[in-house]
Amino acid sequence: MSDTSRILCPVLSKRLMSAEEAAEMIPAGAKVGMSGFTGAGYPKAVPGALAERIRYLNAQPNAKPFRISVWTGASTAPELDGVLAEVDGIEMRLPFQSDPICRSRINNGTMDYVDYHLSEVSQYAWSGFLGKMDIALIEVAGIREDGSLIPSSSIGNNKTWIEQADKIIIEVNSKQNAKLEGMHDIYYGTALPPNRKPIMLTDPADRIGEQYLACPPEKVIAVVETAAADRNSPFKPSDDVSKKIAGHILDFFNKEIELGRLPKELLPIQSGVGNIPNAVLEGLDSGPYKGLTAFTEVIQDGMLKMLKSGTLKVASATAFSLSPAGIEEFDENIDFYRDKIILRQQDISNHPELARRLGVIAMNGLIECDLYGNVNSTHIMGTRMMNGIGGSGDFARNGYLSIFVSPSTAKDGAISSIVPMVSHVDHTEHDVKIIVTEQGLADLRGLSPRQRAHEIINNCAHPDFRPALIDYYERALHSGRGMHTPHLLEEALSWHQRYEETGQM
Ligand code: COA
Repeated sequence: MSDTSRILCPVLSKRLMSAEEAAEMIPAGAKVGMSGFTGAGYPKAVPGALAERIRYLNAQPNAKPFRISVWTGASTAPELDGVLAEVDGIEMRLPFQSDPICRSRINNGTMDYVDYHLSEVSQYAWSGFLGKMDIALIEVAGIREDGSLIPSSSIGNNKTWIEQADKIIIEVNSKQNAKLEGMHDIYYGTALPPNRKPIMLTDPADRIGEQYLACPPEKVIAVVETAAADRNSPFKPSDDVSKKIAGHILDFFNKEIELGRLPKELLPIQSGVGNIPNAVLEGLDSGPYKGLTAFTEVIQDGMLKMLKSGTLKVASATAFSLSPAGIEEFDENIDFYRDKIILRQQDISNHPELARRLGVIAMNGLIECDLYGNVNSTHIMGTRMMNGIGGSGDFARNGYLSIFVSPSTAKDGAISSIVPMVSHVDHTEHDVKIIVTEQGLADLRGLSPRQRAHEIINNCAHPDFRPALIDYYERALHSGRGMHTPHLLEEALSWHQRYEETGQM
């Protein structure tokens, strides 16, 4: 059903068409910049129509494979990544995904994937080495009379895609709350070096840009109407493990406040997506904190609750990542949330300059951590991609405190999250300050590698794996090799190899 009140620009209302007609305009081999960040604000109709077209064309006799490159803000949903990957329609994917079909194609070698720090993607697109973007496909909440766009539930890289592409397809989603208008802050002051200027943001609540995305109407080749909800995955209720992890972090914050090393309002919080970070937010909400701020990537359910209770006074992010209950709460109370949430493009929400200036407390998940504090957050057993680095590196390296969290074991205790040497490194020992498992918290600040090994084994490793870690460390220490970061090179990855061979580390 047409909701023309969402398309006020007369020129663009003339380019209304079906998703199938719009999909016809995307040629094989195109580099397509799509909206979408953690299951929010992604186009809902054209990718599906394109997937159907690809399925049909690739089934023709002697068909040349029809594939495109898909660039987004971050992960999307089955209606985008899932459908296109299913028909083998994605040649190259960047910069982040978490879709099971994409993941299996990446890992079986039928899809190329470039996993980037999310703050850097737009400068890479601008710099030109990724090649010319052909088409931008962007979901919005509405089009204004002058053709400017009201962003929807994420901004991600939309500003850059609109600027970079010669042709733009817009999906106007009437299911997105019309009152999102005004919650965005789009900064038009970025540039490539040597023309960069300081970004004048000194508080997560600061607004430094425009409410709307500028979009030259002459570049718009199609406008498609949709009325479909975002992915909105439910959160698992906090389990014992995530509650224990949250408890260790809260004890740590309280101690730091007592010692005068953190203010009682803490510092702006960045929290990765997932059940454990959400449990930490729930824990913060039940504590004595008031007037905290968040300078983060996504607004999850826990942040809405914190805003509601006054624990949090403002949250800056690039996208929502809410459960169905979270979206209902947000929609019903949007007037309350409107002036407490600011959505920015991801090169600003994750900007290293800003994370460093504000002194962000970064909390992200890990897959495995080694004795010396190197963290792998992307690869399973060194070779298989899980999701990608996302924004974790933007915040971990540049934040004031970088906290990494994980259960101490995975796969029903078959895998230790603490290993002698990580099988892939995303965050080096220089970027990792705190490791937390349900067993306890290792504060690595100011410690040498050997001191770190003691702290990590004793505080974070599961008791079932602790003796083997101590044994490895002691033998490495007395092996007659370097004593700065002791290792037995012939054995360092043997835990992973054993798991691959036997299903047990
Ligand atoms: N070896 C093998 N598998 C492991 C593992 C290990 N050492 N550690 C975890 N896993 C598996 C789990 O078993 C689980 O698998 P399942 O989905 O089949 O059950 C999966 O990885 C997720 O683990 P879980 O413990 O549920 O943690 P999570 O959902 O919090 O995800 C990361 C952890 C690291 C994968 C996730 O945080 C991530 O993708 N991080 C990188 C991006 C990021 O940090 N983004 C936020 C920045 S703003």
